[in-house]
Amino acid sequence: MSPIVKLDQVEKSFGANPVLRGVSFEVAKGEMIAVIGASGSGKSTALRCIDRLEVIDRGSIEVCGIRVDDPQVDLKRLRLDVGIVFQSYNLFPHLTVEENILLALRHVKKLPRAEARQVAARVLAQVGLEDKAEAYPEQLSGGQQQRVAIARSLAMSPQVMLFDEVTSALDPQLTGEVLRVMEDLAAGGMTMLLVTHEMAFARRVADRIIYMHQGKVWETGPGSMLDAPQTPELRAFLNNGL
Ligand SMILES: Nc1ncnc2c1ncn2[C@@H]1O[C@H](COP(=O)(O)OP(=O)(O)O)[C@@H](O)[C@H]1O
Ligand SMILES: [Mg+2]
Repeated sequence: MSPIVKLDQVEKSFGANPVLRGVSFEVAKGEMIAVIGASGSGKSTALRCIDRLEVIDRGSIEVCGIRVDDPQVDLKRLRLDVGIVFQSYNLFPHLTVEENILLALRHVKKLPRAEARQVAARVLAQVGLEDKAEAYPEQLSGGQQQRVAIARSLAMSPQVMLFDEVTSALDPQLTGEVLRVMEDLAAGGMTMLLVTHEMAFARRVADRIIYMHQGKVWETGPGSMLDAPQTPELRAFLNNGL
């Protein structure tokens, strides 16, 4: 079966700064991959290139068999296939939780209101917030807001979900509830690629870990690779705690 996401020798520079230096990896259907690495190693850029928020210089990226680096790519279609969640939740403060979720369903997917509301109820239940549909974002904790952001992304029925340090702004208790939602998603078969600093979570839940260093995939393997790093760089990264 062909992979959902495939990067092949991807290169990307910002000005004179080479940020991705020949990155190749694949994400198979139903796989959960955790990307780890020091700040500045290119993790966010790799994710953003997959959703074409950044355009690559060389190499290729495919999502569901479609070349993302093709200038003619259908961006609307691509963004239906790829859900992306960031550290900041970016909910509309003047809209209720349900209205935040309905927006894209109504305007991008063009669902009738009744059908869109059913989808919103389903995805809110998936993240454990079925009783918060009428709440406004400011009435929710950071963890709850992040779960709404995840639900909003899930509502579009993406083929793959990308998570970029979605728990980094949360305290440990709220982090736990968001990690639990992601673990449920993975157990439910969602294809996921997530950048995280939560090493214990990555080790336990991810099918595979990718360690990035200086714009390259430096080491990759199952969670147990964190117990026996093969390179001095990964060993140092793990010892530094971040
Ligand atoms: N839009 C941008 N313009 C210029 N430089 C950028 C931009 N985005 C990222 N960079 C640079 O690319 C490098 C990698 O950044 P990033 O992909 O965010 O790394 P990570 O997510 O691993 O911390 C950093 O040196 C960062 O300053
Ligand atoms: Mg980043």
